[in-house]
Amino acid sequence: MKRIGVFTSGGDAPGMNACIRAVVRGAVYHGIEVYGIRRGYNGMINGDVYKMDSHSVSNIVQRGGTILKSARSKEFLTPEGRKKAYENLQELGIEGLIAIGGNGTFTGAMLFGNEYGIPTVGAPGTIDNDLYGTDYTIGFDTAVNTALDAIDRIRDTASSHDRIFFIEVMGRDSGYIAVQCGISGGAELVMVPEVLTPISEVVETLKQGWSRSKSSSIIIVAEGDEEGSAAEVAEKIKKQVSEDADIRVTTLGHTQRGGSPSAYDRILASRLGLGALEGLMAGQKNVMAGIINNELVYTPFEDTIRLPKPINEDLLRMVKILSV
Ligand code: F6P
Repeated sequence: MKRIGVFTSGGDAPGMNACIRAVVRGAVYHGIEVYGIRRGYNGMINGDVYKMDSHSVSNIVQRGGTILKSARSKEFLTPEGRKKAYENLQELGIEGLIAIGGNGTFTGAMLFGNEYGIPTVGAPGTIDNDLYGTDYTIGFDTAVNTALDAIDRIRDTASSHDRIFFIEVMGRDSGYIAVQCGISGGAELVMVPEVLTPISEVVETLKQGWSRSKSSSIIIVAEGDEEGSAAEVAEKIKKQVSEDADIRVTTLGHTQRGGSPSAYDRILASRLGLGALEGLMAGQKNVMAGIINNELVYTPFEDTIRLPKPINEDLLRMVKILSV
């Protein structure tokens, strides 16, 4: 393989730059030409690509976001879009791709690989940590720590005013961020999409807390929880508890997606970027590089997309026990 392309796609995640750097520097080391493709699949369709070298990735290991920019391409979902992308890659002589992103990114890569046979290896980049085939995804650790910093601050003011706070963290389909924040932030309860926590249980938890003279409480709600957003959950609770209960809601939103990546994420991203590149060189295709039990592994896109990564329910149980 003489020439490859690298791109980031879907929601950005802290550490994506460290991953791009590992791919580019690894390619330079191995004597392979590397092209950066801007804005994910859109750049492939529009021919928005540039040749990268060692200097292109100087001074980015510590930066959040992605220097290649990102997008969720609608056009790539169409056969015409993918045809245009293929023609551009052919013209440039790009023989393989490294895709950094999440489920949507790998779904596109699998489709493209099946249609046109261009080998692609993925590196898991999403704050949600919801990909089968790796213990952790790039950006998750940083997102949890960013949310935790905010939760600690909210706890101070919650305690001063004897308030109940519903704090919404990201995770459309996944409660990983919520669970980790719940444990590390000392929350009373965590609500996640994977396991239904009925409103009656939230009310019961709050009442038990009051009976033990707890004056403030923190409930973490994952964005995709079945009972609704943190604001909706808070509205439902207000109707069922005393009028004196002082309730506030904070949505942490996209703050969790930005910022300088943690050391953990930089190291993970470097291992996965180089692992994806060396996998591609060794003939891997349509797979995602991941780290399981500290070992580099490759999992077919089909499995990363199809198979669920279940939340550890024992951790949810732990949140409840530790908030007694
Ligand atoms: O997949 C990452 C993620 O941050 C989810 O947690 C969240 O639901 C979604 O992306 C938000 O997407 P957008 O940035 O398009 O609003």
